[in-house]
Amino acid sequence: MTDKVNIALRVNGKSYAIAVEPRRSLADALREDCGLTGTHLGCEHGVCGACTVLVDGKPVRACLMFAVQVGETEVRTVEGLAKGEVLHPLQKQFWENHGLQCGFCTPGFLMLAAGALEADPDISDDELREVLSSNLCRCTGYQNIIKAVKLAAAEMRK
Ligand code: FES
Ligand code: FES
Repeated sequence: MTDKVNIALRVNGKSYAIAVEPRRSLADALREDCGLTGTHLGCEHGVCGACTVLVDGKPVRACLMFAVQVGETEVRTVEGLAKGEVLHPLQKQFWENHGLQCGFCTPGFLMLAAGALEADPDISDDELREVLSSNLCRCTGYQNIIKAVKLAAAEMRK
């Protein structure tokens, strides 16, 4: 067995001192070592986007990144979106506009959209569709996801 490496993962403003094998994916470290199971694992091949989290504010596939690569950089997961009992505008709009059915893809879409809207609050509809097309949903047909993200974008611009 490979020796484990001690790292301090900074996730949602909190530090997690964990010991991981160098090959441990960020997704597994978040779920298994930090107990943050909101990040979902689907394909584990970088295709579905269910594992999307923000690293240094940018959406990444957590199944394709090693935990040891994160270093001092801040990771944000779906658990950090709400402020206490107050849902993030994206969560609220997904809820109100039926942007989810089974919910398996939802954490990934929320973090993907959060990264895109924070990077460019005035993102165009075409660019938004392009960004969202990187993640897969087997339930909704995407229309309500796009609608929810557009409404959240408008709310976040206020
Ligand atoms: S689980 Fe990471 S892209 Fe599918
Ligand atoms: S809501 Fe089921 S996969 Fe998207």
